[in-house]
Amino acid sequence: MAHRTTLDAIEGREFVIDRVTVVDPVAGRVFDGHVGVRDGRIDFVREGPAPADIDRPCVDGEGLHLAPGLVDIHVHLREPGQEHKETIATGTRAAAAGGFTTVACMPNTDPAIDERSVVEFVRRQADIAGFARVLPIAAATRGRRGEAIAEYFELRDAGAVAVSDDGAPVASAGILRRVLEYAAAAGLPLIEHCEDPSATGDGFVREGFHATRLGMKGVPAWSETLGLVRDLVVLGGVPGARLHAAHLSARASLESIRIAKDRGLAVTAETAPHYLVFTDADLETFDTNLRINPPIGDEADREALVEALRDGTLDCIASDHAPHAPQEKDVEFDRAPPGTVGLETTLAVVLTHLVAPGHLDLARAVALLSCEPARCIGVEAGTLREGAPADLVLFDPDAEWIVTPESLHSKSKNSAFLGRTLRGRVRATLLAGRLVWRAAAASATGDGRAAGAGGG
Ligand code: DOR
Repeated sequence: MAHRTTLDAIEGREFVIDRVTVVDPVAGRVFDGHVGVRDGRIDFVREGPAPADIDRPCVDGEGLHLAPGLVDIHVHLREPGQEHKETIATGTRAAAAGGFTTVACMPNTDPAIDERSVVEFVRRQADIAGFARVLPIAAATRGRRGEAIAEYFELRDAGAVAVSDDGAPVASAGILRRVLEYAAAAGLPLIEHCEDPSATGDGFVREGFHATRLGMKGVPAWSETLGLVRDLVVLGGVPGARLHAAHLSARASLESIRIAKDRGLAVTAETAPHYLVFTDADLETFDTNLRINPPIGDEADREALVEALRDGTLDCIASDHAPHAPQEKDVEFDRAPPGTVGLETTLAVVLTHLVAPGHLDLARAVALLSCEPARCIGVEAGTLREGAPADLVLFDPDAEWIVTPESLHSKSKNSAFLGRTLRGRVRATLLAGRLVWRAAAASATGDGRAAGAGGG
């Protein structure tokens, strides 16, 4: 007879999560089933309840959905150098609280992740914290200065999975060409922040009616699109190169991605949750958490981004988790650094704003947050394949919660979603079969506790 236990007691080499709604993003299926875990790996995924005489402890997952641990390929963990905003420990704790078990971290740290020793440092800190797998993204150019190319082979051998100068585009087309050639030889994708800095100038919100009405300096939408088109033109001349366009915000950029994909270019693209919910009309609150780069677009952009997720023009959603300290954000709008935290709200925003209104079905939504981002950077993660590491998230799709500073476990609380009610709450996160996050029971504020620091 199976021994019945609770989520808290998920321990040991073998157990089953029973009577759970399984979301399999690869098969595109949602069904009632049970999932076996053995030695940190997925042992089996089966339909229906576990047989009564199953020979291992069963955790009752009734009311919960189970999906592969989510994958976020655009996260700023800020360490080394900006530990007042976030550390690898606090950022990965936030990842676990948000259901993410794999995060790729951006190299705009201080120093930049442009040497083997920094890649190794990031990975070591992540291992010590033990909350999530951290895949470092190396700087495309030394110090992200857009001049000398970093040592990709060495960085790759140390564990880097991609290169990027994110926070800024690769500075010139000439360097970009060399970046793509060298990255192709090393088998790494370039993750590009698409922007033409000469068009952005000192603008900080999307150019248009609302920017003018509020007296804010605008950035034309085509700053992003022009940067992207440059990147695509150069990409077309470098056989074997792969480019992933980060945090797209503008409708015209999506047209360029469509054309590039039609022509067979090796390009993938992401958007971020804030672009799917907010528009430039929301700027009238002067909330500095809405200052983001690229700036939030207009309603036509928002609708086009949702459509692009439906039709496959966009390949995935990434949080662009960008923590900033209160003293940095609590200033005049134009002086605030750009960015919003996102690791802990991304799943709930997608469930609330894309799944609930029927824009995406649940399996596709989860795919956009798991196997699809993993595919974009060529790593294996975000699946329920038997034998894969038991990286799993258990969430309650109906639980409502209000985003408050207290509900967030990131060191910084600069969320654009503060005060919003979201539907969908992570209840537990497992990393290689180990409980790394467990939400407090039925908490309206979404409090929870880390369950696995120091696990390695
Ligand atoms: O809003 C942003 N914040 N956009 C970026 O490109 C960089 C990021 C950051 O590092 O804060």
